[in-house]
Amino acid sequence: MTAQSTQAPAPLFKTLTDGETRVDIWFNGHSLSVPAERSVAAALLAAGVSRFRATPVSGAPRAPFCMMGACFECLVEIDGVPSRQSCMVPVRAGMHIRSQEGARDLPPEPGTNADTLEENAHAR
Ligand code: FES
Repeated sequence: MTAQSTQAPAPLFKTLTDGETRVDIWFNGHSLSVPAERSVAAALLAAGVSRFRATPVSGAPRAPFCMMGACFECLVEIDGVPSRQSCMVPVRAGMHIRSQEGARDLPPEPGTNADTLEENAHAR
């Protein structure tokens, strides 16, 4: 039996430059110092994050694939807004990012509000 390491795995990517500007962000409640002037996805990958979301059906882990806005594997919640394509959003200091776990709630239809929806649910 082999002992499992408790350390985070090494980042999947290496940067070509040293001494770059860094910013502090939050990911799932943990503070991270990440390279600035990149997308959120690139910054998180450089920090060693390898799980960005879980699929709605099986809960399988997902991470960025295309890095150009086509695959939607990089969806995260950024500053309280779910389903953001992290590969298309520039990282900035102080961002609060959360992994997206399964399906998000649908927004209410236009012309309705939460109270109306609640009343309709009880009237059925
Ligand atoms: S990595 Fe494919 S859409 Fe973001």
